[in-house]
Amino acid sequence: MSKSLSVNNLLGINDLNVNDLNLIFKTANYFKEIINRPIKKVPTLRDITIANLFFENSTRTKLSFELAEKRLSAEILNFSSSGSSVKKGESLLDTIKNILVMKVDIMVIRHSSPGVPQFIANNVDASVVNAGDGSHEHPTQALLDAYSIKEKLGNINNKKIAIIGDIIHSRVAISNIFLLKKLGAKVMVCGPKTLIPKHISDLDIIVENNIKKALEWADVANVLRIQLERQEVKYFPSLREYSLYFGINNKLLKSINKDLIIMHPGPINRGIEISSDVADSSRSIILNQVENGVAIRMAILYLLSLNIK
Ligand code: CP
Repeated sequence: MSKSLSVNNLLGINDLNVNDLNLIFKTANYFKEIINRPIKKVPTLRDITIANLFFENSTRTKLSFELAEKRLSAEILNFSSSGSSVKKGESLLDTIKNILVMKVDIMVIRHSSPGVPQFIANNVDASVVNAGDGSHEHPTQALLDAYSIKEKLGNINNKKIAIIGDIIHSRVAISNIFLLKKLGAKVMVCGPKTLIPKHISDLDIIVENNIKKALEWADVANVLRIQLERQEVKYFPSLREYSLYFGINNKLLKSINKDLIIMHPGPINRGIEISSDVADSSRSIILNQVENGVAIRMAILYLLSLNIK
């Protein structure tokens, strides 16, 4: 196995090869062991400066990148567009270039517009990590999701993963599909037809519109949030109806009567796509996903730092 990544940026899952994925998981194992020790901090990135640039809201991704950077002893700049000169009309590129001249080595970017991390990577001499760009990709989420499945089931090859809900607006769904396919999983998407992109079966995945059939098929159900903020038209009549036909609750799971792992990238709309009795149950690994996000992001930042000249 090569000891370095084949890329200098992490913009999307398809930029990574299987060797990169195995290296990220192996490095995350190492950091996970470290952050469970009484002394959780290592000096690995002491000479590296990282800017966290969040132009869109975040809790999990923002905090786990920041914690990963602190655990690695990096210098950190935290930027969020609210309260910044973006509000005075400063352009994206001017904002980024002004931050870059402060000698930043790695930029972690979340933005509501697809392609912004790629645009920044094309225009600056720093390593760029996509922390979620519109409905395009969320590669670090997919990596922590796959790592969490691997941790629970031992491996991913031939495992059946159903991604359920608002697929059409979901960067998590797309990054998960790309990653799980690379690792040999069987992937299904399930939801109302209006929330599933028309040509998604071209990605060699199964499309199912019946939630019970999807759950009967799956080893793992990754339940997605209904993204009301990205819906300019009505994709289903009401949240109540969505919950009735596609919501995952204990009654539905009992009717299937099988071991099924439940995931959700967060934030959860409790009582809509998933009920509290399922989200908080012993079959849920939702908080393990969040915990693993720190080790995965430590691994990515460390491995990208090795490629900085
Ligand atoms: N899963 C995820 O990206 O959550 P945040 O929006 O809180 O970062």
